[in-house]
Order: sequence, then structure tokens, then C-alpha cells
Amino acid sequence: MGEGSGEGNSDYTGLVVDLRRQMWTAGVEEELRRLIWQLAVTGKYISAKIHESNRKLAGFKNLYGEEQLSLDRSADEIIKNQLQFSGFVREYASEEQDAVVLLGKGREKYFVTADPLDGSSLVDTNLAIGTIIGIHKKSIFARGRDSMVAALYITYGPLITMVYSAGHGTHEFVLNREGEYVLSEENLMMDQRGSIYSPGGLRKDYTENHLKYLEYLEAEGHKLRYSGGFVPDINQILIKRGGVFTYPALKKSPHGKLRLLFELQPMAFIIEQAGGVATDGKEAILSLQVENLDQRCPIYIGSRFEVDKAKEFLAAES
Ligand code: F6P
Ligand code: MN
Repeated sequence: MGEGSGEGNSDYTGLVVDLRRQMWTAGVEEELRRLIWQLAVTGKYISAKIHESNRKLAGFKNLYGEEQLSLDRSADEIIKNQLQFSGFVREYASEEQDAVVLLGKGREKYFVTADPLDGSSLVDTNLAIGTIIGIHKKSIFARGRDSMVAALYITYGPLITMVYSAGHGTHEFVLNREGEYVLSEENLMMDQRGSIYSPGGLRKDYTENHLKYLEYLEAEGHKLRYSGGFVPDINQILIKRGGVFTYPALKKSPHGKLRLLFELQPMAFIIEQAGGVATDGKEAILSLQVENLDQRCPIYIGSRFEVDKAKEFLAAES
């Protein structure tokens, strides 16, 4: 795309390459294309809600004094409503819902998972936050490798960007002023090794092997990059082409903090498609069987060198 035009996001006629066109050119199947597009569109509505809520930062009061849904709940409603009328989503599972929500009549092809507003506690600090989506076929209670057909995330930062993969590489789009998602990078490919690390959890709760691993990265000169938002932290590793994000097993919580279905599987799908790796320290995230909605697991995700090193350190006798 964009070859010879001098612009990464336009073709030889000078037209911008938008999301629908890129997916069509990349050979994504029609229903999946429509579904990914509808989900990307929810980013516009969710960002409008974020702006509305941030009016408080600018000193605005809620004029009518009405009860407002929390931002996470509003984002969840927006996604659910959008999917309800799509015609090809059977079930919706969300971090904001206690149980799976039946949306279709039972014959629809897709199952969608969402972390509607990840990092929402960062809203009042004006740091970036995001939406994470997984798209599955047949069932969500499976190994990601067998059930996932696509994943995407949206970052609400100074710009709104959307990264998706439907199994044919990982691609980034930017929402422009006309409200179109315009291709910014196609087929993102990570390097074998990066230079940043993003470590969740407290040092005092780390296992000895994990601590040694972090000390190794520090001795190697890796720079600390941790915002407290999973989406921008993963996005930074992807866009900078390498490094590692980890939320490890902690002494008191051996399964770590992040959720397999809503957070880890979609990011693992996207990062693997960009040449990276995602494991729980032993096994690939996409090889783990999903047993329940709330399942958590440790994560090491990023470029191959750092993730393989983590495996080595964790396997060592302590
Ligand atoms: O959704 C959980 C989450 O907010 C992630 O976005 C983030 O990576 C992590 O938790 C931050 O956890 P902590 O506050 O323990 O660093
Ligand atoms: Mn989250």
C-alpha cells in the first residue's frame, strides 16, 4: 500500500486507504470485515463519552444532576448495542458482565469478548486508555489458538488509533478528523529484541526468579515504560517494535492480575501476528484453555528475545 505515493496511508491515486478498503484488499472475509468495522466505530462513541466525562476536568458540572453510568459501563452498553443488531454475533462476553450475554438467535458465526474500557481509572489523569476486543468462532471456552479469528484494540490518547489482526498480519489505523480510520502502518513487524520493559506488580511480591529476570533486563539497559494502562503499554511495545510487558505470578496471587479471555488472548493474537510472542512463563497464551470468564494468568508478552529469556529465568532452580 502507498508505494510510490510518498504517503504511507494513500494509494497511487492519492486516496487514503481506510479500514474497510484495507481489510478488503487483505482478503478478510466479508462478515468479519463488517464486524471489525462496527467494533472500530464504537471507538468513536466511547471516545465521545470519555470527552463528556472529562468535561469535569474543565470545570463543567452535570447540568441536570442525573445519575450517570460509569464510563466502563457506558462503553460496555455501546459495544453491546452495536453488536446486538449486527446479525452475526451469537454471544457477547464482557469484563463488565457477570455472565455471557446472548445476542443472536443461535446460528450466528461469531462470539465477541470485550474489555470495554481498560485502564478507566486513568481517565482523570488524562493518560491514555483503551478498548480490547477478541473475536472467536464456535465458542470462547476453548484454546485461543483454536477459537480466535481476530482481535483489535483502540487507544484513546492524543490520537485515537485502532490496531487489528484477522490472522493476516497486524495493522494500525488512525481516526482522522473526518471520522475515518486511515491506515497508518500495514503489516507491523516487531524486531527480535527491544529495549524497553513494562513490569506490573510490586517488587516485594515478586518470586525470586522473576526478580532476577527483571534485574537481568535492567543490567542489559532496558528502560522502564509502565503507564498502568495495558493498552497503551502494549501499544508502545508494538509501535517501538520490541520490548516486554509482564504482569507476573505474585507470591500472594500466583495467577497474576490480568484476565485471559478479555485482556491476554486478544493482545497475544495481535502480538503473535506481528512476529512477537506471548506466554504465561511456560506456555503460549493462545494454547491455554479458557475455563471461566474470570480466569487470570501471568503474562510475558513482546519481542522474542525478552520473552524467551523470561522462560529461561523462570525455569531455573531457585
Ligand atoms: O485492567 C487491569 C489494568 O488496569 C491494566 O490496564 C493494567 O495493565 C494493570 O491493570 C495495572 O495494574 P497495577 O495498577 O497493579 O499496576
Ligand atoms: Mn482491563
